[in-house]
Amino acid sequence: MKIPSHIAIIMDGNGRWAVERGLPRKQGHIAGVNAFKKIISKAAELGVRALTVYAFSTENWNRPRTEVDFILNLFQKTLLKQADELFKNNVKVKVIGRRNGLSRALTNTIEKIEEMTAGNKGIQLNIAFNYGGRAEIVDMVKKIVNDFAVNNETNISLTEQDINRYLYNPGLADVELLIRTGGERRLSNFLLWQSAYTELCFFDKYWPDFTAEDLVSAIKIFQQRERRFGGLNKVGEDYVD
Ligand code: IPE
Ligand code: IPE
Ligand code: MG
Repeated sequence: MKIPSHIAIIMDGNGRWAVERGLPRKQGHIAGVNAFKKIISKAAELGVRALTVYAFSTENWNRPRTEVDFILNLFQKTLLKQADELFKNNVKVKVIGRRNGLSRALTNTIEKIEEMTAGNKGIQLNIAFNYGGRAEIVDMVKKIVNDFAVNNETNISLTEQDINRYLYNPGLADVELLIRTGGERRLSNFLLWQSAYTELCFFDKYWPDFTAEDLVSAIKIFQQRERRFGGLNKVGEDYVD
């Protein structure tokens, strides 16, 4: 059975998980990191080639400053703490999203872990942080316009493959399976370009409760889906007009 080569996860529901336990929301974010650690190792074990997780969106700045600061700090601490483990496990880490708005210390930490793991050949982990699908498209268009201007190019020819080279992680395959926890059925500005034909899988449980078994069950659901990419299904192919 086919294992999806690229899985994306909207890790949602940390705050509600905490509030329902009478805890401050930040405890939910801490629990969310723990859930993530189990999922990355399970995904690697299953042979998933790329895992992209949504950790902080361009819209999440709209939250109270205390929560935003807590998430920024937790992210940096987690990167520092997990760097050796990720390196040892052959994980290639990339942080996708806008770097402006992030502190110098955080960007340094991001650059360090990216450099350190750049040669790793195992699972590719993309952490979407200060990420927005529309921001990525805007940044892509800016890079393209700039490249054409630099080369004095007026005859603009572009393919979908060309666009891919201008995204935050050039060469990354399309998302095959997109999982969202926390009960909402929306994309919240995640991977708009890469998700054109992704299979969607929603879980009502909150992210801190998501387990390795849940990942396996999402993959089983994916394996039962018939992907058509606009073509015909098996019955349709056999049909002679
Ligand atoms: C997802 O959990 C993590 C981030 C968006 C940073 P939330 O913080 O959105 O949790 P809920 O959805 O409010 O429960
Ligand atoms: C999406 O969750 C972003 C992350 C999980 C990082 P949100 O909680 O921000 O999404 P909305 O606001 O419910 O759409
Ligand atoms: Mg949420």
